[in-house]
Amino acid sequence: MRFCTPRPVRRGLARGLLLLLPLAGRAEALVPEDCAEPASECALAEAARQAGAFVGAAISNPELPAERATIPRDFNGITAENAMKWGSLAPAVGRYDFERSDAIADFAVANDLRLRGHTLLWRDQLPADLEAVVEASPDPASKLRQLIEEHLSTVVPRYREAVSVWDVVNEPLDTFTGELDRQTLFGRTLGEAYLDEAFRRVHELDPDAQLVLNEFFFDYDLASPLGQKARGFVDLVQRLLDRGVPVHGVGVQAHFGLPAIGPLPTRAQFEGFLRTLAGIGVAIELTELDVSLKWFLGEPDPLAAQADFYGEIVGACMAVAACTAVTTWGIDDSRTWLDSFPPFDLAAPQEPLLFDGSLEPKPAYFAVRDALAAREGVFHERAARLVTAFDEALAAGDLKGREAPLRWTRNALGRAGLRLAGGHYRAACDRLDRAGRLLGDRRPGVGSAQVVRGRGTAGLAERVRALGVALDCGNRRFTEDGVAR
Ligand code: G3I
Repeated sequence: MRFCTPRPVRRGLARGLLLLLPLAGRAEALVPEDCAEPASECALAEAARQAGAFVGAAISNPELPAERATIPRDFNGITAENAMKWGSLAPAVGRYDFERSDAIADFAVANDLRLRGHTLLWRDQLPADLEAVVEASPDPASKLRQLIEEHLSTVVPRYREAVSVWDVVNEPLDTFTGELDRQTLFGRTLGEAYLDEAFRRVHELDPDAQLVLNEFFFDYDLASPLGQKARGFVDLVQRLLDRGVPVHGVGVQAHFGLPAIGPLPTRAQFEGFLRTLAGIGVAIELTELDVSLKWFLGEPDPLAAQADFYGEIVGACMAVAACTAVTTWGIDDSRTWLDSFPPFDLAAPQEPLLFDGSLEPKPAYFAVRDALAAREGVFHERAARLVTAFDEALAAGDLKGREAPLRWTRNALGRAGLRLAGGHYRAACDRLDRAGRLLGDRRPGVGSAQVVRGRGTAGLAERVRALGVALDCGNRRFTEDGVAR
């Protein structure tokens, strides 16, 4: 399916599709999907929504039973594990085949999932002839710039309706020095400037997308002798921000597989790293989380110990307001890259994910859900801010006129820190409803967001910006023309 329908119409269509989606092989629902609070009794995705966060999984094929059975219930985000990489989209320079990637984008839209575009520039999985074409040119730097431009301008506009966040650059650093990796085609041909140019260009092509720099680490302790990559990453992000490069967020991959260089991080070390990144003003996501069971075989109950560690890592993210999303690198233990990717495959089976090979949730699933549920309180006060902002604007007469309520809605959602959650959402939702009504009927693009009764939805501002669709507060739904029914 091509992306030609405007999002608002497609969103409505998508929602209809969602209801009709044949969830073949759907595992028995763990807990009610749309359960009442508290989030700790909900399916994973509901806990995430109420926490004002995203929980996602890397997928390869949305037609597979595991994807269809778990994604709409347990995740509110997905990443294409391989399908959106340059070499997967174009096995040869300029020869694109979007079939797999379009299917994943369709699936994300049909299931209202936050789609992470992974990844535009990475040293691996490039078109087979890219390096040869660049190096055959009398001016490799100009040639590579031209090919990057062609790639970005082909792919980013195509997925503007489906992708909310792009891993613009993946793994830019040398693991052992913490400096820019100048072994890669991009690093050695263009130097650090390739990052600036790519982020700036993607932002031009899709101003609504959140742009992320994604990296993996073996040591998260900035003071550790092995912490050079973590330190180098913080310095790189700071340099980019200082140059005005639109890096909105960073992806901490959070792979904990074997073999690894150092021991597992403590909660304090991991959270300290996240807080340092938050301190330089970027959003943070755990983008490729997996934790090999092999780390815990000496424990009396290895699955429980694995769950505890998952809880610590996700808990660290949830404790940092800037950390908004957690994505596991796969759905279930029967399909993990760790079991087939040298040299990690030497430790197979690593059993690193939230579901076992029979698609049963492991203790780690519930530990992640509990960590998400613990977050909810953080966002009550933000939703309360939105309520106060409406009431004050109404009292001050600031909501008069055709544009004022729309502007208020967008500003208030931004000030509320992109999230609504918990008990305050009903009052906030009511204010958003009232802002919509103040716009009067037939006002297309009532700036609003999807705040569905019982569930806050993270990333509201990006929805407001990207969707401009009607307000949806449970039983009161506006349509694009602003008519409440
Ligand atoms: O598609 C071909 C298939 O046609 C062929 O028959 C088969 C056997 O050679 O290979 C298939 O390609 C494989 C591809 O995954 C798709 O399954 C590649 O060999 C294999 O190397 C590739 O591995 C991926 C790896 O990135 C590549 O570096 C993993 O699935 C993927 O999980 C992994 O993901 C990366 C992230 O993108 C970035 N962060 C690190 C993470 C782990 O390496």
